Amino acid sequence: MNANNPIGVFDSGVGGTSIWKEIHGLLPFEHTYYLADSKNAPYGNRNSDEIVALSIKNTEKLISLGSKIIVVACNTATTNAISILRSSFDLPIIGIEPAIKPAALNTKTGSIGILATRGTLSSKLFHTTSALFARDISVLEIVGEGLVPLIEEGDLDSPKLKSLLQTYLDPMIEANIDHLVLGCSHYPYLIPMLQTMLPESVKIIDSGEAVAKQTKALLEEDKLLRKERTKPKLQFYSNSDASTLEYLLRSYAAAIEVEQLDF
Ligand code: DGL
Repeated sequence: MNANNPIGVFDSGVGGTSIWKEIHGLLPFEHTYYLADSKNAPYGNRNSDEIVALSIKNTEKLISLGSKIIVVACNTATTNAISILRSSFDLPIIGIEPAIKPAALNTKTGSIGILATRGTLSSKLFHTTSALFARDISVLEIVGEGLVPLIEEGDLDSPKLKSLLQTYLDPMIEANIDHLVLGCSHYPYLIPMLQTMLPESVKIIDSGEAVAKQTKALLEEDKLLRKERTKPKLQFYSNSDASTLEYLLRSYAAAIEVEQLDF
């Protein structure tokens, strides 16, 4: 594998761009290819077999495009498919999981909240991680039903979104959580709204930075970091309406284009 090959990133849709931004921020000279499988979003209400099949399809496509490493920028795909992906493909694969550990280690109230998809919260991997790190504290797991479709439509601040979110936050505030773990890569786009709705004492945690650091560390270890200090190719592919993807990226970097691709 060549260090000049791209980092391949996929998500069920636009949410993984929250992870991509962290990766590009930390590794600004790396070529990156991003697949938004918006045609099949949301993954969160699908069964595990379907999520595995979609994750394999996306990984195969990113490998066929020359990826040197795969970042599964989707908690639902990671918690359901990462071990199958790792045993099926011969390249490094990084996943994203809800950051229960830092929340559990740092809670003062002994109560944390996790907002994630049904697919993530019902997965074996999530249960194993939760049992390992959050045994002695109270963990309120809430499915963010309906949030991903709204974000896919580009809705980050409507009254409808806010009232839906309120129904998920109310029991958490009631339970006196002091950490809210965002267990879905779409949800970091809700942070500005969440900050207006949660008590100031609640810390919001997502896993984007940790995934970017892990990606860098793995590439370093495998001597796969790109050496050229020239402008990288930042390629985005969508298999559905790309307007939200374009909108989320334009607010970050004006020159980014999204291409249509059948996958
Ligand atoms: N963004 C994904 C995640 O991190 C999946 C959302 C979905 O498609 O339901 O879980």
